[in-house]
Amino acid sequence: MLGTRSVKVLAPFLAKYPPPLGQLLTRRGKSALAHATEILEKELAGIKEAGTWKSERVITSKQGARIRVEGTDTEVLNFCANNYLGLSEFTPGQGLPRFTGGRGLHGEDLHKSLERKLAAFHQRDDAILYPSCFDANAGIFEVLLSSEDAVLSDELNHASIIDGIRLCKAHKYRYRHLDMRDLESKLQESQKHRLRLIVTDGVFSMDGDVAPLPQICDLAERHGALVFIDECHATGFMGATGRGTDELLGVMGRVHIINSTLGKALGGAAGGYTVGPGPLISLLRQRSRPYLFSNSLPPAVVGSAARALELLMGDSEIHRSVRERTRRFRSKMTAAGFSVSGAEHPICPVMLGDARLASTMADDLLQRGEEGTPPLWSVPTTA
Ligand SMILES: Cc1ncc(COP(=O)(O)O)c(C=O)c1O
Repeated sequence: MLGTRSVKVLAPFLAKYPPPLGQLLTRRGKSALAHATEILEKELAGIKEAGTWKSERVITSKQGARIRVEGTDTEVLNFCANNYLGLSEFTPGQGLPRFTGGRGLHGEDLHKSLERKLAAFHQRDDAILYPSCFDANAGIFEVLLSSEDAVLSDELNHASIIDGIRLCKAHKYRYRHLDMRDLESKLQESQKHRLRLIVTDGVFSMDGDVAPLPQICDLAERHGALVFIDECHATGFMGATGRGTDELLGVMGRVHIINSTLGKALGGAAGGYTVGPGPLISLLRQRSRPYLFSNSLPPAVVGSAARALELLMGDSEIHRSVRERTRRFRSKMTAAGFSVSGAEHPICPVMLGDARLASTMADDLLQRGEEGTPPLWSVPTTA
């Protein structure tokens, strides 16, 4: 396991030459992963044996009737697009289906390049892009877990995790928010299941509180479970080099799967992804429904996320400045007599203790224009 200090020292080197996940994993964590990998590889072999393996064809040209595809020297006729009217020629969209007519999957080299960048950024084997992180969360549980398995989920996890879990047949255990005793008792209760997956937001969006990942990883390793975190509120700015909560808490090699969004720190447009072990990502490409049955991200969005990632990897000042501004906001608000909950996270919930007062204050701030800070909305993100 890497400590926070060694992550800091090693950060530039790790950014350039990320070690594969296997080398970072501790022995027990690896055995949970080895068990899962065996199951996943069997599934992958079964798909190949059945002759239903979907190979991705990477389009290297603009979308149209004639396209170029990786691995061929000439243009080919494109019988596999959603671009009914040919209008993608005049728009930033590509009308790019993932799956058409039961035959091939289509990616684009821009998409592939972003997937490689995301895997390198998180120092994981591989990555897969989705139209949103909601989709990434909706599409993972059903693929990874069957009725023989169990999922253990923090009760305040994001709505998309809750919905993703609803879609799978695994046995469901909900542990009390951040409560390690309750998680341990649920791990004991669920011993009989084949695979067990602990899932938690890295940072919880309502209060900005951070999951106790070192303790979660200890428990997972003791009980042979996998760990999966949603990093929508951490990717890009938590940890010494902005890798996320796993970096902040020194457990980068102990967390197996990460889902995150391109729609927040990484450019703010849209998009989501999963990074993790190679066999899992391969199986998601074969079976994950939001990936297969929805258009892929528009190239303009992919390009802007790739650029955001490049900027972030090249300049540590970017995420450092958000940390400093957060500290200033928190300390000035506290000094002014407000109560700001959460820890050091940029989510700074100002607790007024009265919904009507919060709404009046938001209107009042908006009226003040530049003097005031735009408003406080209360958005439930779990249900
Ligand atoms: C913790 C968490 N997970 C997932 C999502 C969904 O992300 P996206 O907007 O990319 O669908 C959000 C969005 O608010 C979130 O806060």
